[in-house]
Amino acid sequence: MKEELQLLKEKAVKGLKECKTVDELNEFKVKYMGKKGELTRILRGMGKLSSEERPVVGQLANEIRDYLEKELITFTENLKIKEMEERLLVESIDVTLPGICPELGRQHPLSQVIDEIEEIFMGMGYNIEEGPEIELDHYNFEALNIPKDHPARDMQDSFYITPDVLLRTHTSPVQARTMEKTCPHVPVKIIVPGKVFRRDDDSTHSPMFHQVEGLAINTNIRFSDLKGTLLSFARQMFGADQKIRLRPSFFPFTEPSAEVDISCVMCKGAGCRVCGYTGWLEVLGAGMVHPRVLEMGGYNSEEVTGFAFGMGVERIAMLKYGIDDMRLLFENDVRFLSQF
Ligand code: PHE
Repeated sequence: MKEELQLLKEKAVKGLKECKTVDELNEFKVKYMGKKGELTRILRGMGKLSSEERPVVGQLANEIRDYLEKELITFTENLKIKEMEERLLVESIDVTLPGICPELGRQHPLSQVIDEIEEIFMGMGYNIEEGPEIELDHYNFEALNIPKDHPARDMQDSFYITPDVLLRTHTSPVQARTMEKTCPHVPVKIIVPGKVFRRDDDSTHSPMFHQVEGLAINTNIRFSDLKGTLLSFARQMFGADQKIRLRPSFFPFTEPSAEVDISCVMCKGAGCRVCGYTGWLEVLGAGMVHPRVLEMGGYNSEEVTGFAFGMGVERIAMLKYGIDDMRLLFENDVRFLSQF
């Protein structure tokens, strides 16, 4: 049995040296020292030995087992270190590679334009007001001098929720709401950015779009104030050489009323496809607040006057950035949006 043990030791030491991976070492451990391993088998057979032989063989067997266990630990540790070093060599990080940069979002072009319009008017002393997108028929029409059967309602084909409630068709109801809130105090100088809704849908109309309303009321507001304010706005928005043109128009809540054009931003007034070869682009509606609207808002139309205007934000964004289809603004395609 002693010889058997000696042989086993030699075989094991040789086997251990041949192990090249941690897995192989584990297999080695099972093969010799596992439950059915070779050393274990020999130790089990010790019962058959005489009482003189048993301690001698037992001691030798234990020595071999201790030796193998110690060697196994050293080998395993060394192998682990070697494997780790090899892995580090392959997986090492190249700190000179460009990093992965999280892409920052940006403001939507319409929000940028609204911000810019707000900046310009705040610079002229205006405050910013807001109103509800779901509006009462009263504020959207009645308080703006558009009674139930008025043909002007057809200009703004609307989304009704009930006969008295609708999605506002313009930001003008905030004129009425503000007058009600502020009267009889003057001056009123507000702009109202916001979403509006109409039953239109083509390359230049969207069922949801944005407007910025303006309203000024004071004791001596004249049409020339409106004109000067709009010219100043056009120059700050589109450039110092901008011209504006007012054409007579009709809105039930302003009198007199005007459509306001700016000189074409594409051809500088020379005439091109965008302006229909007229040199002018229509950008907003405006006028002096109708005395009846002032009265309904609680003001004395003998004492105060005012002007109001409303502009389409999409239209201004399209002119400013040369966008030819309004729907692009709502498709949320980052390839389009990242250009602004
Ligand atoms: N609310 C009008 C529209 O949406 C624009 C407008 C506002 C006209 C204020 C005059 C005064 O068409």
